[in-house]
Amino acid sequence: MSIDIQTIRKDFPILEKQVYGKPYIYFDSAATTLRPVQVLNAVTKIYTEFNGNPHRGSHYMSNQTTLAYENVRDKVQKFINAPTREEIIFTKGATEGINLVAYSFGDAFITEGDEIIISEMEHHANIVPWQLLAQRKKAILKVLPIIDKGELIVSELDNLITPKTKLIAINMVSNVLGTVNPIQDIIEKAHAKNVKVLIDAAQGIQHIKTDVQKLDCDFLVFSGHKMYGPTGVGCLYGKKELLDAMPPFLSGGEMIDKVSFKGTTFNKLPYKFEAGTPNFTEVIGLGAAIDYVNNIGLDKIAAYEHELLEYASLKLKQIDGMRIFGEAISKASVISFLVGSIHPYDMGMFLDKMGFAVRTGHHCAEPLMDRYRISGTVRISLAIYNTKEEIDQLVDAIKKTVAILG
Ligand code: ALA
Repeated sequence: MSIDIQTIRKDFPILEKQVYGKPYIYFDSAATTLRPVQVLNAVTKIYTEFNGNPHRGSHYMSNQTTLAYENVRDKVQKFINAPTREEIIFTKGATEGINLVAYSFGDAFITEGDEIIISEMEHHANIVPWQLLAQRKKAILKVLPIIDKGELIVSELDNLITPKTKLIAINMVSNVLGTVNPIQDIIEKAHAKNVKVLIDAAQGIQHIKTDVQKLDCDFLVFSGHKMYGPTGVGCLYGKKELLDAMPPFLSGGEMIDKVSFKGTTFNKLPYKFEAGTPNFTEVIGLGAAIDYVNNIGLDKIAAYEHELLEYASLKLKQIDGMRIFGEAISKASVISFLVGSIHPYDMGMFLDKMGFAVRTGHHCAEPLMDRYRISGTVRISLAIYNTKEEIDQLVDAIKKTVAILG
């Protein structure tokens, strides 16, 4: 059964908006998706119907919030097929998840001369925490290169991995190139040499069915706001034996077992890593986003987005001077491009004035821009609410911009 996009679009009230008196056409879902009414209602319900700090009160509302909050942990566990619920840590986003691992795993397991491998197509969030860790521990950061069309040279791992390599941190999908990386192969190669793997699924979880047991990844992070959920929430999955062996990251309330002025013992998983009042409203909103995605079906979402990706790629390539960055065989619905010598900011500004939301610039991936010797691109990213008609309108708008600027 195919999906009814017009019905789905009605779930996203913001699509009714106009900007500069023109219909709002949203092509920036890789930055943050729009949120359906189901998520907005779930969030509003917390504030209006059962506000209470989870785990901390014995009163009715607090208990209700605790139940709802913990219920989302079960939903996430099921969504990514984690073996246990204790392995799901709520964070404020993928970036915090990576920082948690870089600090906590880094503190416990990385020593001078150890090596961490990332790739040439990482987002700054999966570069800078490892650079800082390498500086703190006098460790070495190595980079897995890509070929021009935007695919990783996975075989190069055979040379990069040495007995000193402790961790590979790699994205599931590039936020710039759209490349879907062969993470299963990478994990197998890493594990054969006793190297742990962290998957940055910020751009993958909303497009690809993720099964952490099948992948056998050691850590996986994602953000809620890129999968139709609220901002300020994300998850870290980690294998229990690793999370148990890692020291706390943020400290404060709830992550403790017993505190005295002589010292502190810590709570069990997952609470050891959830200091302070949790972002329970956003977590509950994330639960509604998971329900939303599950109700449509991730396989159907992926199939529709792929259809849009193929259509948009074909149409864009018909524009004179079009250069697309990222032509991997396996791609998610992200297209980065430049046209002739038009600066991406100029293109973005013209498109904005015509009602189109696109992202321009380096996309928090400056090393990747250096790899292509460019300062930035224009990026469109497609989601379940986009249509072929919108793509046609974008192509017309790009052609108009080229006629003026080109
Ligand atoms: N990481 C987000 C993006 O790629 C913000 O746009």
